[in-house]
Amino acid sequence: MNIVDLIIKKRDGGKLTKEEIDFFIKGVTDSSIPDYQISAMLMAIYFQNLDSEETSELTLAMADSGSTFDLSSVEGIKVDKHSTGGVADTTTLILAPLVASCGVPVVKMSGRGLGFSGGTLDKLESIPGFRIDVTEEQALRFAKTSGIVLMSQTDSLTPADKKLYALRDVTGTVENIPLISGSIMSKKIAAGADAIVLDVKCGSGAFMKDYDSAVCLAETMADIGRSVGKEVTAVISSMDQPLGMNIGNSLEVIEAIEILKGNVGGDLLEVALTLGAYMLMSAKKVSSEAEGKAMLLENIKNGKGLDKFRELLIQQGGNPGIIEDYSLLPLSPEKTEVLADADGYVHSMNTAEIGRASLETGAGRASKADSIDFGAGIIMKVRIGDTVKKGDAIAEIYSASKEKCLSAAGYLKDAVVIKSEKPKAPKLILDIIK
Ligand code: URA
Repeated sequence: MNIVDLIIKKRDGGKLTKEEIDFFIKGVTDSSIPDYQISAMLMAIYFQNLDSEETSELTLAMADSGSTFDLSSVEGIKVDKHSTGGVADTTTLILAPLVASCGVPVVKMSGRGLGFSGGTLDKLESIPGFRIDVTEEQALRFAKTSGIVLMSQTDSLTPADKKLYALRDVTGTVENIPLISGSIMSKKIAAGADAIVLDVKCGSGAFMKDYDSAVCLAETMADIGRSVGKEVTAVISSMDQPLGMNIGNSLEVIEAIEILKGNVGGDLLEVALTLGAYMLMSAKKVSSEAEGKAMLLENIKNGKGLDKFRELLIQQGGNPGIIEDYSLLPLSPEKTEVLADADGYVHSMNTAEIGRASLETGAGRASKADSIDFGAGIIMKVRIGDTVKKGDAIAEIYSASKEKCLSAAGYLKDAVVIKSEKPKAPKLILDIIK
């Protein structure tokens, strides 16, 4: 087989066979195909797409490109969760301890933030001492004792995806539904869970800007999951404004703890409860979304979710004192308020630009090699539909320097649109695909 023939076949709209896809992924994994030919194939796929059969074959080949995680020795139905990425999307830190506190084991490999999208690993690493590099052996032990593990992907898992994702990032080929689906689902399949709950973000702060593309991504991923016998539920949720009020690593940890303490609610809690309820349903713990939400809410009220979060911190070396004393978490020294420049309603938000503002504070990374400032970020003070008066604070910005604060403030001011007419209340959960 010759890679040039395969690139030409796909470039001209042909359908790749299983053998051809396996040949391509093997060549990606063992580096026998050079980056320029892999990139050419990615661009051919970007323009010509893959059909559902090709997408499933690509995903399975990527899932098999390295080692896989065997969770069969952990009792019960293991349910994984994945978000396609957004701003102030801290649901994992809330639902993982809550679901585990209901007796359903959560073994979750998470990723780092990139661009406007935050990452669970960075948030966890903002907790002094917390270790995200857990070996397979430790993960299995933790899963059996505490029922919760939040960890980085092991080096040997899906090496083909690592290579392809890095090349897609620098060749303009990230935004392609078969490639995104294959990338996400190969990691979820290799991570070994029995069922998967996906949070497919839709809106100005998501890969998928409109409902139809979000549904297409959700259905593509669900089809892949079904083709390997895994139950997949996809919740399509809005990213037309930041999900929580805090953006930035330690700031998001604080908001998650406040939710686990039962002190605050809002959209972040609602999405966490919805995803958590479907995780409980997939694990056959409850039979309806309402029953699942009630069980999770009960474990906020009785403190079991927060206790599980404390157990997770202790297990992985994090300082549990942060739960009572937020000053143990990093907070950047400079603070700037962004003020409304007119009376009116918060009409809309450009969420990707708010994510961009967060990058300017130092809370995120523009490229994979960038380091981040765990204490930087933004506390939003308004949501779409709120009334504001000229001079009211719409956000607080935290950063290491005044210059960074002012740069972030510029993006934020442009991103929050104030108008005199009242906007329609935005819908949070747009659809659930089972
Ligand atoms: N997240 C992933 O893991 N892969 C993609 O391709 C996009 C988002």
